[in-house]
Amino acid sequence: MAEIVADSAAASGGDESTILRLKGVTAGYGAGLILKGVDLTVPTGTIVCLIGPNGAGKSTVLKTISGLLRPEDGQVLFRGEDISRLSSRERLDRGVVHVPQDRSLFPGMSVWENVVMGAFILKDQALIRSRMEQVSTLFPIVAERKNAAAGSLSGGEQKQVELARSLMLDPALILLDEPSIGLDPKARKSVFESITQLAADGRSVLLVEQNARSGLAVAHHAAVLEAGRVALTGTGEQLLTDPEVARLYLGANAVAAVSTDSPSESAPQG
Ligand SMILES: Nc1ncnc2c1ncn2[C@@H]1O[C@H](COP(=O)(O)OP(=O)(O)O)[C@@H](O)[C@H]1O
Ligand SMILES: [Mg+2]
Repeated sequence: MAEIVADSAAASGGDESTILRLKGVTAGYGAGLILKGVDLTVPTGTIVCLIGPNGAGKSTVLKTISGLLRPEDGQVLFRGEDISRLSSRERLDRGVVHVPQDRSLFPGMSVWENVVMGAFILKDQALIRSRMEQVSTLFPIVAERKNAAAGSLSGGEQKQVELARSLMLDPALILLDEPSIGLDPKARKSVFESITQLAADGRSVLLVEQNARSGLAVAHHAAVLEAGRVALTGTGEQLLTDPEVARLYLGANAVAAVSTDSPSESAPQG
C-alpha cells in the first residue's frame, strides 16, 4: 500500500524535492480562458520568480494555486496532491498562503491585531503567542510598532507586516504577488532580503514581480508567462542574462547592469 502511494506521489511530482507542480492549468473569469495550459514547478525550499507583461495572467496563476479561482482544467499538485478543487481554507490548512498585490492590512487596526489575524484558524493560544514571537524576531517592526494603526505605517513597513502575518500559520509555500510594487528603493531592498530569508528558513516561494531584475536576482528558478502560457523557464541567472528577456523585461542597459546593479537600485518595470 505504502509503495503504491509513494509511487503515485513521485509520478505526480509529489516527491520531497517538488512542493508545487502545475500541469496544464487552464482558467478564466467566465468568457474565454486567461490561462491556456500553464506548466510550472516549484522545487521545495526554493524561490521561483514569475515575470511577464501586464495582463499575462501572473496573478491569475497565483489565484488558481491559493483557491481564489478554480481551474477549468489541469492540475495543481501540492506535495503530490491535486488541490485544484479544494477550497481556499483547505489549501491554507495544507500550508499554502497567498499575499495579494494590493495592500491587505486593516488600516484602522493595530499592527499586532493584523498579524494575529493571520492565525485565525488556530485555537491554541500558546501556539499563537509563540508564532507571534517568531514573526516578531523576523520582522522587528511587528513588536516595535505593535500598537500603531497599520494604516499609519509606510508602504514598506506595511509590506513587512503583511509578510509577518502570512507566516502565522507556518506555511510551506508562500505566494507573493508583486511585493515590491510602489516601494522606495530602501523598502524594496528590505522586501527582497526578507524573501531570501524565507527560503533560507526552508520555505518555498512563488514570487510574481514587475521589478523583474530584482525578482530574478533573488530567484533560484524563473519563468516567463506570456498570454497565459509559460514561454520560457530557467534559473534566475539564466533569465537575467538572456538577451530577449533583458530586452523585453529588464529595460535598457539591463545586460550591462546585471553584474553591477544592486537590486534596490534597479528601476521598477512597467
Ligand atoms: N476578476 C477578474 N474578472 C475578469 N477578468 C479578470 C479578473 N482579474 C483579471 N482579469 C483579466 O485576466 C487577465 C490576466 O490578469 P492578471 O492575472 O491579473 O494578469 P497579470 O497579473 O499578469 O498582470 C487580464 O486580461 C485581466 O483583465
Ligand atoms: Mg498581477
